[in-house]
Amino acid sequence: ISLKHYNTFGIDCTAKNFVEVKTVDELKTILEIVEQENYPSIFILGGGSNVLFLKNFDGLVIKNSITGIQKVDENNENIILYAGAGENWHQFVLFCLKNNYGGVENLSLIPGTVGAAPMQNIGAYGVEVRNIVKRVKVIDRKTQEQLWISNSECKFGYRSSIFKHQAKDKYIIIGVEFRLTKKNHILNTSYGAIQNSLHALNLQANQTPTINQISKAVIEIRQSKLPNPKEIGNGGSFFKNPEIPSSQFEKLKNKFPTIVGYPISEEITKVPAGWLIEQCGWKGKVVGNTGAHKNQALVLVNYGNAKGEEIWNLAKEIQKSVFDKFGITIEPEINIVG
Ligand code: EPU
Repeated sequence: ISLKHYNTFGIDCTAKNFVEVKTVDELKTILEIVEQENYPSIFILGGGSNVLFLKNFDGLVIKNSITGIQKVDENNENIILYAGAGENWHQFVLFCLKNNYGGVENLSLIPGTVGAAPMQNIGAYGVEVRNIVKRVKVIDRKTQEQLWISNSECKFGYRSSIFKHQAKDKYIIIGVEFRLTKKNHILNTSYGAIQNSLHALNLQANQTPTINQISKAVIEIRQSKLPNPKEIGNGGSFFKNPEIPSSQFEKLKNKFPTIVGYPISEEITKVPAGWLIEQCGWKGKVVGNTGAHKNQALVLVNYGNAKGEEIWNLAKEIQKSVFDKFGITIEPEINIVG
């Protein structure tokens, strides 16, 4: 079966076998068969928004479509919600906004599913999903045992978690419990573009923005910068923003005075990969069926019928030119399969 409509890059590759699961029981049954038959390789697909297939997948793709949103607990201040891993992330955000549950507004319009969110600790505009994840429900691939992984056990880091490292291929995420606010929302408007957008609303001095207003601001910013995967195939940021020694950053600043950097600690500075890539002349450049987007150089796109390999080749060229110019290695944020 073709995976073209199951990955936001729109890569037309195939999977040898494909199954969509809608309940935990269905998933369990599939995993039992996989174990019994010693099935060689499986790949768990959520929204397909963070994956680049380099070739046809010679195994079983399991599309996780386990849905449902339930209230677990609440008091005057907070609510605990459980959402199935297959829920669309932005639909979940809209559900929260409609009910005035705060915590997810900065993460509006991120493509993908609820289950993929903790996997790579999705983040945008000063908020990461780690801030609201209470615990993650998983199923063990081998034993089919279901267990909870607490927030601290998830070992969240910048676009990373235990599910991308130590527990890679061990568990499948089946649902996520979130802790959200019902009042006294903890707003994050630190990001310059959000402030500009809120400024335009002319709020009174004593008025704080609502979570809906913040969400609207985020949606506006994303739509102005990031290509819509439904129109132009892409997987969001292709690379992570590199973290380099602050001493190296100071040296680079002497040579490239306009370089942007955010201190992470006294020793470490984070540099926007988009800036580095733009400086190497890639922004808006079209290479065959691929390119670096005109509004955000960090987003690599599929303009037509690009093969996964073509995008990966472009990525490697970009990586090389950034290294040659700045001595910085940028690492993919996207999962490369194959
Ligand atoms: N920049 C350039 N040229 C570019 C792109 C960016 O000079 O072509 C500069 C901007 O001017 C700005 C800085 O780089 O000074 C940061 O740019 P931006 O605010 O667009 O964010 P980013 O660091 O490129 C990260 C996340 C995004 C997230 C935004 C907003 C990563 C890898 N990416 O991008 O997440 O939406 O911040 O918080 O951390 C994703 O992970 O897929 C993703 C889209």
